[in-house]
Amino acid sequence: KPSFTIAIDGPAAAGKGTLSRRIAEDYGFHHLDTGLTYRATAKALLDAGLPLDDEAVAERVALSLDLSGLDREVLSRHEIGEAASKIAVMPAVRRALVEAQRRFAMKSPGTVLDGRDIGTVVCPQAPVKLYVTASSEVRARRRYDEMIARGDAADYASVFEDVKRRDARDMGRADSPLKPAADAHLLDTSEMSIEAAFQAAKTVVDAAL
Ligand code: C5P
Repeated sequence: KPSFTIAIDGPAAAGKGTLSRRIAEDYGFHHLDTGLTYRATAKALLDAGLPLDDEAVAERVALSLDLSGLDREVLSRHEIGEAASKIAVMPAVRRALVEAQRRFAMKSPGTVLDGRDIGTVVCPQAPVKLYVTASSEVRARRRYDEMIARGDAADYASVFEDVKRRDARDMGRADSPLKPAADAHLLDTSEMSIEAAFQAAKTVVDAAL
């Protein structure tokens, strides 16, 4: 029986991580946050003191990445996110990570993959595609509130600038830019609770199962 894949894409801080985890848990599916594969590759480069602008070096690190045990806690640092979005423009890095993500997507009985290009590039045949978004103001506010809750120093204006810069890089790159797949269901969570977004997503999944 082929695996059932749910593809979830959207910009940073749209709520797709929380949503993806809940959906995976609810259906008993495996979950892969593909942003972590870019972050882990970036962290390995930073830790080894390797350059972030050498595609062959970054590709080698991406090819050796182990998908088990990726931990958002360890990879959450801002510098890691910035470095991740820099190496994510490199086609050789994307090729290596997409290959690993596709293997993960075949796990039985089903999988939830979230990221930027799941519905468009990684799993274009996925029976369910969701594009989760929210206004840049709302996303910056959520990111800011998280940072404050963690006890980090943060100021809203610079978080807002970061969100916009990250969007521009993710949507503007030549290879696999962030955009909704033609057949994706759009879910704007600007004015939605997590619970409401979860229920809306469930309705879409149940109709396809
Ligand atoms: O989602 P997260 O912020 O952890 O992702 C970090 C960076 O990795 C993103 O800004 C994006 O540039 C990149 N990414 C990507 N494709 C994915 C997931 C993440 O290019 N499928």
